Amino acid sequence: MSTTDKYYNQIQIATSYIKNIYDGEIKVALTLGTGLSGIKEDIDLLHTIPYGEIPNFPQSTVEGHEGHLLIGTWHGVNIMVMSGRFHCYEGYTAKEVTFPVRVVQALGIKNLWISNVAGGLKAEYPAGALILIKDHINMMPDHPLTGMNDDRLGLRFPDMKEAYTQSWRDKFKVAAKSIDIPYHEGVYVSLQGPSLETPAEYNMLHIMGADVVGMSTVPEVIVAKHAEIKTLVCSIVSNVCYPPEEISETTLEEVIAVAHKSGDQLKKVWEVLIKEM
Ligand code: HPA
Repeated sequence: MSTTDKYYNQIQIATSYIKNIYDGEIKVALTLGTGLSGIKEDIDLLHTIPYGEIPNFPQSTVEGHEGHLLIGTWHGVNIMVMSGRFHCYEGYTAKEVTFPVRVVQALGIKNLWISNVAGGLKAEYPAGALILIKDHINMMPDHPLTGMNDDRLGLRFPDMKEAYTQSWRDKFKVAAKSIDIPYHEGVYVSLQGPSLETPAEYNMLHIMGADVVGMSTVPEVIVAKHAEIKTLVCSIVSNVCYPPEEISETTLEEVIAVAHKSGDQLKKVWEVLIKEM
């Protein structure tokens, strides 16, 4: 069997497993970043599926990341929540990291909302700020679309002009303004990690035109674009990385604490958007 057929079959098997549990139409899939699992508290859960039970699904290895796929309704809208995600720094390839996005595609879900925590590269971004992502710079060493292209999954050379769907960004802005939640709009740069960046690296990323830096999301967004899934991505600034004199040592505990606090604001914006669906 070719590598593409093998991967395609793995996606179909995982998808069938989920469809056997729930076969309704799901409008949005949400990916919850580090420390952001609180977002799921308001959801009326129908099914909680541990990642470990889904054939071919990777497993979370990181503190602050659960490993559950949740299906439920939020204000009457059917949603699926991926509570816990995968990163290349865990040793996964970019293809493995994005396997859940392929399952979203195979389930026929057309919208993917992603949250993450990230380092802030602009002087005006305090810890806790919400940054609506409008574009990215990919600096990861692995890419999810290398190898033979599977035409069943998407185009060989997917365009990336609008990887972050304009209509979702427009709606996010209106929603945030309607409930007075401040946000900025910015560019996300992805590095593999797991070490954080040095002050010189943060400075370089700032000069390069990035507004926040993180270790996730970009592979998922590339695959979503390949799969013609609409995306909405919001980062929460967990640590200030610019200007250099504002950088302090960062621990995972601090990152999670900030995420818990500001995750609530992001949840409120998502809630407005869900109510409009
Ligand atoms: N660098 C990379 N990823 C991150 C950071 C950072 O400073 N903060 C949260 N995720």
